[in-house]
Amino acid sequence: MKPITLALAGVLGFATPLAWAGNADLDAKFKELVDRSFKTTGIAQKERMIQLDFQKLCSALEAGEKVDPKKIEELRQAQEQTIRWPSDGKFLGNWKEGEKIAQSGRGLTWTDNPDTVNGGGCYNCHQMDQKELSYGNIGPSLSGYGKLRGNSEEVLKYAWRQIWNSKSFNLCSSMPRFGDAGILTEQQIKDVMGYLFDPESPVNKNHK
Ligand code: HEC
Repeated sequence: MKPITLALAGVLGFATPLAWAGNADLDAKFKELVDRSFKTTGIAQKERMIQLDFQKLCSALEAGEKVDPKKIEELRQAQEQTIRWPSDGKFLGNWKEGEKIAQSGRGLTWTDNPDTVNGGGCYNCHQMDQKELSYGNIGPSLSGYGKLRGNSEEVLKYAWRQIWNSKSFNLCSSMPRFGDAGILTEQQIKDVMGYLFDPESPVNKNHK
């Protein structure tokens, strides 16, 4: 599971969770190593290597350090503040566009032009269409998502929030912050939502 997560972290550009917690000397050496080894190339900025506050905390947790649960909750609440709801109140876009986004892992690497349209790479972690042969299983299967859950406002909001910023539910979720980190646009998230919820989408149509 690890290598896939880390490779993906590289592609999508969120900070790699490396745990050197508690050793200032090693910490300084590591920072120096990163500084020497990485450089900004094209759209891949070196700043991506700097851990955000919640990423630091999750690394500490992974390293087995004791972390005050209040701190975890505080940072989770801060992630919740990042959620932006669809500006026109409409959650669902075009499922056909959404399918392309779910299947594409392109974007944000140093070989991509700045105008490359980013993909969501959902298949790297989720089964979505039962007819699809190849998919990752870091996340739960999303096959039949709308068929099984319906499309009440509560369900739509839950899925939107998960896609916009998964850390607003589970601070140390491995799912990228598609909206908050600017990986996908609002329209792209609507299209991916269409892919999850439209009865005509293969996510629901192929679900047996
Ligand atoms: C790096 C792996 C990864 C990628 C890529 C990923 N997810 Fe997830 N996703 C997860 C994990 C893990 C969960 C389980 C909850 C958690 O830990 O946040 C999840 C949960 C979800 C859920 C909530 C399921 C439920 O009902 O509880 C939805 C919806 C979802 N993902 C949609 C997507 C979509 C759409 C994409 C592509 C735009 C995507 N995910 C890409 C890892 C991923």
